[in-house]
Amino acid sequence: MECPYKPGGSAAAQQQHDIDETANVPIPQPPPHWFTRNLPEMDPAFPVSSFWRLAPIYGDIFKLDLITRQSIVISSWELVNEVMNESRLAFDMIGICGFGYRFNSFYRDEIHPFAQHMSAALVEAGKRANRTAVENYVRVKSTEELMKNVNAMWALCDELVAERKRNPKPEARDILNTMLNVSDPLTGDKLSDENIRFNMVTLLVAGHETTSGTMSFLFYYLLKNPEAYHKAQQEVDRVIGDSVMKTEHLSQLKYIEATPCSAGNTA
Ligand code: HEM
Repeated sequence: MECPYKPGGSAAAQQQHDIDETANVPIPQPPPHWFTRNLPEMDPAFPVSSFWRLAPIYGDIFKLDLITRQSIVISSWELVNEVMNESRLAFDMIGICGFGYRFNSFYRDEIHPFAQHMSAALVEAGKRANRTAVENYVRVKSTEELMKNVNAMWALCDELVAERKRNPKPEARDILNTMLNVSDPLTGDKLSDENIRFNMVTLLVAGHETTSGTMSFLFYYLLKNPEAYHKAQQEVDRVIGDSVMKTEHLSQLKYIEATPCSAGNTA
């Protein structure tokens, strides 16, 4: 059976797009019954068909009170893309934790120019690996384009290094401070600015695709295995609860620590 729902096409969904985006608007919900809540909305034989039926009425996002749990259903590609954007998340995390820099990927429609240069450079680098040396040599335009992208990435990293030198942040416990301030215990040498720039690009490129890919697989498999999802959720509730997450919590999140490995094995 094909999903009949066409995202954004219904009157309700359309209306939802017209709302004031800065206002806090409750997520739509079918009127709950006093005792059975939203359970009667669900077709036990084919639950997903219930979502297909409700989406044109309540829009791209709606919630259901299923008594034992509160569910939020997202049914358009655009909205899933917005709320589950692992790529932007990974990028922003490395920027903040590594260099105290905010890429602010969630606040822009376009992906950050650094990410655009990075993906263009990676595509060309991949192609070069599969071409003969002669072909790479004669493809002057491609090489020029590659270097333009690489230089743009270097320029941002150079700017971050220069900014940190202009305005040092001794209290920041990030990789940039370590690279700038720590010397080799034997020789006393420090990293050159050029070396720091190369390391920054490496960390962004190596950490971005890998982490976002792993998280995408992780959420995909968690959603396919509600029992595992539930266990992960229970662990978060038990270890972190309503408090703010701290580094000390990480070592206690044993089940969650194991989930990316399981997702990797399943994939
Ligand atoms: C789930 C996330 C990640 C996965 C699956 C992953 C996977 C890998 C793999 C398979 C290697 C090659 C190991 C080898 O054979 O030598 C590697 C190397 C590397 N990764 Fe990751 N990685 C992840 C996250 C990160 C992050 C977040 C960073 C940095 C911010 C990072 C930085 C690096 C670097 C710098 C290397 C090169 C190490 C060396 O050769 O000295 N990775 N990673």
